[in-house]
Order: sequence, then structure tokens, then C-alpha cells
Amino acid sequence: MIKMISGDLAKLDTPCLVIPVSENKNLFHDPLISGLIQKAINSIDFKAKSGEEIFFYDMPEVKAKRTLFIGLGKFEKINGETLRAAAGKSIKRCIKRNISTMIFCVPDEGEMPGDSRDMLEGLMEGACLSNYIFDQYKKDKKHKPLKQIALYSHAHKDGKSHVPASSVETVCRGTILAREWVNLPPNDKRPEQFVQSIRRKAENENIRISILDEKALKKHKMGGILAVGSGSRSRPSMIILDYSPKKSVKSKTKIKTVALVGKGVTFDSGGINLKPSDGLADMKMDMSGAAAVAAALITISRLKIGLRVVGLIPIVENMPSGDAARPGDIITTFSGKTVEIGNTDAEGRLILIDAMSYAEKVYKPDAMIDLATLTGACVVALGEKIAGVFSRNRELADHIIDSGEKTHERCWMMPMPEDYKEMLKSDFADIKNITGVRWGGAITAALFLSEFVQTDRWAHIDIAGPAYAKKETDYCAAGGTGFGVRLVMDVIKKI
Ligand code: BES
Ligand code: MN
Ligand code: ZN
Repeated sequence: MIKMISGDLAKLDTPCLVIPVSENKNLFHDPLISGLIQKAINSIDFKAKSGEEIFFYDMPEVKAKRTLFIGLGKFEKINGETLRAAAGKSIKRCIKRNISTMIFCVPDEGEMPGDSRDMLEGLMEGACLSNYIFDQYKKDKKHKPLKQIALYSHAHKDGKSHVPASSVETVCRGTILAREWVNLPPNDKRPEQFVQSIRRKAENENIRISILDEKALKKHKMGGILAVGSGSRSRPSMIILDYSPKKSVKSKTKIKTVALVGKGVTFDSGGINLKPSDGLADMKMDMSGAAAVAAALITISRLKIGLRVVGLIPIVENMPSGDAARPGDIITTFSGKTVEIGNTDAEGRLILIDAMSYAEKVYKPDAMIDLATLTGACVVALGEKIAGVFSRNRELADHIIDSGEKTHERCWMMPMPEDYKEMLKSDFADIKNITGVRWGGAITAALFLSEFVQTDRWAHIDIAGPAYAKKETDYCAAGGTGFGVRLVMDVIKKI
């Protein structure tokens, strides 16, 4: 989809040429581009402020039909995200006009503030990520994604750049795959269907797939997953995606194992503690952690990452019925510990603990990360765009937060105070799945999980806010955002 090009810009025929412009600095050496920018600025309607844009038609200096100038704002403030947004926005403009190809002018490397690699990567990501339309349920498919996006720069005369477009594209395809799963309506991704959909995608990769069906879950005494799944007609299961790099030259050092665990509730009605109808339809997104983990594994295999990565994905539908788990039920989890279910809507933690203790027992990972749309409280704390990170391992937490900054899948460190555990005490079982206190719900959920994890190298990422967007952004339509895929792909490089 993305291609690097160079050559004589004046002669390149295209329906749309895009030029990003900073308010207070010229980002291009090329006198042709500088001249075009001058014309846009002279038009008085364009100051290159962030968010500004202007179309010109048939500019005599170039063959392009349209020239779109996109404002980047103040030079000092430009970063990877600025370019991600600019690229995303320009793609959206082209899609709206039913254009199928475009040329985006890449600012000269030396003329960019900060890390030029991050900028170019951001630009490529913005282009890829915005070029996706979820329209499989619409008869009238008004618009199509672009067929090709060319990035023009005279710096890559040899057609190469130090950021390989193909690997950026592979990661973005992962994000789009996760979005696709999240966007599916809950009637078309009930647990059995969702599991098969993941299996079909992973089958084409270098991934070992195993599925623990209900029988196997019973055999392993995974009381958490079974309890949450019991109210649904569609049977629960856990899918395990196990990737190992092919034996290569560098097999002298022992390769590390990373476990990724993703919450896969295909629809969270709340169960017997039924949720109010407000926003209930959005609860199809409660499998966003699962989608991110499955898509990350597929991406990891495509990029032949040099780690063993195991994705453990418990998949259930949380429904009320005559067979559903009740408040007051006491279940025995895989770990052997008993849990009193105080509220059937605190179901995510019940399925995660079985998956995580299984991960530790079977795979003995060097690091474990779980992604889950776990609590509304985390959205209250950090808003809809920032995930909460909980970890007692400072190094791992810092890796995640740094990757969040780089990818703009932002993460914020949250505390795990020991004394708050008090609130999870049960009169009848080893622990309870709720506190009965209104405050600090994201923290007590993380503390509940921590009671079932042995390793110190574990981080929990609560993505309840950023996994789903009510409104479109510059490079993501309304709906699933695929949050976590780019983040995890960046984090695992550092493990
Ligand atoms: N899936 C929800 C959390 C959620 C809320 C995700 C909003 C995305 C947006 C989770 O299963 C849940 O229901 N959590 C409860 C926990 C409570 C019962 C202790 C919550 O956050 O209210
Ligand atoms: Mn719930
Ligand atoms: Zn849930």
C-alpha cells in the first residue's frame, strides 16, 4: 500500500499531491516545493496552523490535479503524532473525494525537529491506519480505501529509507485486524465464532494454536472462565497462540518468553448484575484486549520477532440466564484459590486470573503483560484516551510508558497500594471479586489480579478507555481503535 518514491516532482502525475507545512519553518530544500508552499501562504487563507488545510487545483508548476497543504503548526511542537495526524487527515480527504492514489511529500530529514525516524514512522502509520473503512455491514459502500500511497522524498533517490515501510505497514495491518474484530457486532462474534475467526487468521502464520474448549477448561478446573461463560448459549474457551522464532544463527543465547493475556468478553451484559441500557451496545468492545493480543501475535509472526511469545486469550460471553453465575457464588479457580462472586459484572478479572495462572504454570514467562477493558473506573481516572498501567516492576512499567509515548498509545502509571487489598476480603472465600467501595475501582481490580500472579515481571494495562472511540479521530474511524497492538510491538523489542 505504501511506497517510497523520488524523482522529478513536477512531472509526477497524481490526483492529489499533499504537502505538510510548518507555521514558522520551511521543511523542504526542494525549491519547487518551497515555491508551492509560498503560494499557499500567499493565498491568505492558510497560515499552516495545526489543523488548517487548503486545496489548490491545477497548480501550473506540477502535473498533480490537486495540491493539498496541511498545516503542522509550530515547528518546535512537531512530533511523530503531528505527522501521524497530518497523514491520516490527508488520506481521509482523498477517500472522501474517491481518489485512489496520492503522493505525500516527506519533509527533509535534516529539517525535522527531534528523531526523524519517529517522524517518518508516524507519517507512515498515519497513512496506513486511516486507510481503513469498516463497511462490511453496509450495502452502499460509498467510499473505498486508497489503493496506493506514495511517499515522495528526494532523499531516497535509491528508493530506500531507514524506516522500512513494509514493517510499519505490517504492524498497522495488525492494528486494523484488531479494529475489525472489535467492530464486529456481538451476534457475529459469539465465543465459538470469535475463536474460529482467530484460529483462521493465525493458521497461516508460524504459530502453534491450541484451543481449550469447555471440556478442557473443566479438566483444568478453570472455574473463573467457566463461571463467566455459564450464562451464554455459546460455550467459553481459551485460545492459545504460541509463537517461537525459527532456529536461526543466533540460537546460542536462550530466547526469552513473553506471555500476553487478553480479556475476551465478546459481549458484557453484566450478567445477573445486568448493566443499565446506557452504552450497553458498546459492550461488544469488551474483547478488545483479546483482539489486540491475537493481532499482536499474528504481527509478531509476520515480522519474525526473535522472542517466544505466547498469547493466552480466554473468550466468553457474559450473559444472564438460568445457568448464569449468581452473586454469592463461590468458585474455585485454576490456582486453587476460591473466589466469592460479589458482582457478576466484575467478570473480566475472573477470566484473566485463570489465563494468567495457567500462563505462569505452563510457560514460565520472563515477562507477562495483560490487556483488558477491565474497569469503568479507569476511564473515570484517565479519560477515554489513556490506558492505566499497573506493575510492581518499574523497568517494565517504564518500557510500556515510553512505548506509549512513542506510539501515542498513551499509558499512565497507576499505584498498587498493598493496604487496599483489605477491601477484597471475603467472609466466605479466599477473596472476593469486588470491594463494596465505590472508589479506586481500577486499582482494586489490578490488586485482585495481582493475587493470582507470582512473577514480578508482570504488567496489567487497563484499556477500557482507549480501546473504543465514540468519535472519529485523524487516523481512526469511530469504533474499535486497535489500541495495544502498536504499543505491544514496541514494548517487546525491549524485553
Ligand atoms: N467491561 C467492563 C468495564 C468497562 C466499562 C469497559 C466501560 C469499557 C467501558 C467491566 O467488566 C465492568 O463491568 N466493570 C465494572 C466493575 C465493577 C462491577 C466492580 C465497572 O467498571 O463498573
Ligand atoms: Mn463487566
Ligand atoms: Zn467486562
